[in-house]
Amino acid sequence: KATVEGTLRYVVHLNGTSQYLPHTIIIGVRKGGTRALLEMLSLHSDIAAAENEIHFFDWEKQYQHGVKWYLGQMPFSYPHQLTVEKTPAYFTSLEVPKRIHRMNSTIKLLLILRDPIERVLSDYTQVFYNHKQKNKSYPPAEELLLKNNELNTDYKAINRSLYEHYMEHWLKYFPLENIHIVDGDLLIRDPFPEMQKVERFLNLSPQINASNFYFNKTKGFYCLRDGGRDRCLHESKGRAHPQISTFLLGKLRDYFYKPNKKFFELVGRTFDWL
Ligand code: A3P
Repeated sequence: KATVEGTLRYVVHLNGTSQYLPHTIIIGVRKGGTRALLEMLSLHSDIAAAENEIHFFDWEKQYQHGVKWYLGQMPFSYPHQLTVEKTPAYFTSLEVPKRIHRMNSTIKLLLILRDPIERVLSDYTQVFYNHKQKNKSYPPAEELLLKNNELNTDYKAINRSLYEHYMEHWLKYFPLENIHIVDGDLLIRDPFPEMQKVERFLNLSPQINASNFYFNKTKGFYCLRDGGRDRCLHESKGRAHPQISTFLLGKLRDYFYKPNKKFFELVGRTFDWL
């Protein structure tokens, strides 16, 4: 029988596992490589990951269920393990930092970012396929991203790539040392070093190693090798993006130039973004 202790931990008197509030949360960014990060982190035996995106802090209805409900969504784990959940929408939801801070002001956060332009195109591609699945059409990228020969900054996917805007808000609640930024472009090209940094940030023993990753030519991405078991991410991860004109690319570059620079200043680090 499960009981709730004062520390908000469900105790299960079966095999010594319990549910714990997350020790770390992957807060985003949408299409940054959040699933890859969670899967790769789960290679570590001291990690217990929630399978689904919980949307506790960003969906009002879920948040109203309260923290005990949130706890109930967590995986069963052993006391030495770290619980992690990922909900990519947290990063761009302005209510979220305050709420997470209220739950645990010293929590370690993981944020995976990717070239903002790549992220826009990945976001577009995701919505395109969501429509396709429902047999609905979705306009070509150029049509949505341009309006009267100018960048259509009302398009939501563009806004979500303004990392500086959102980061500034998170930093009102959490110190930079508690937010580890994973370089999503590097995670694609060479996952192992990025994962070593994550292990260090979370004070995990160095357990993930280079042989956990192999490049799958057909998929065009790294896949995971775990105790002799090979697996790639779902086919919805690593999709081809639309070709865009040099005109649109130029507009996107101009638009993100300043926010990117501001972001680098904010986090004291640069990224290889166009
Ligand atoms: P694309 O499908 O646009 O290429 P998220 O999980 O946050 O939705 O991010 C999806 C993105 O993860 C994919 O976007 C892909 O580029 C990236 N990714 C990173 N590592 C990957 C891997 N090993 N396999 C597949 N996709 C990976």
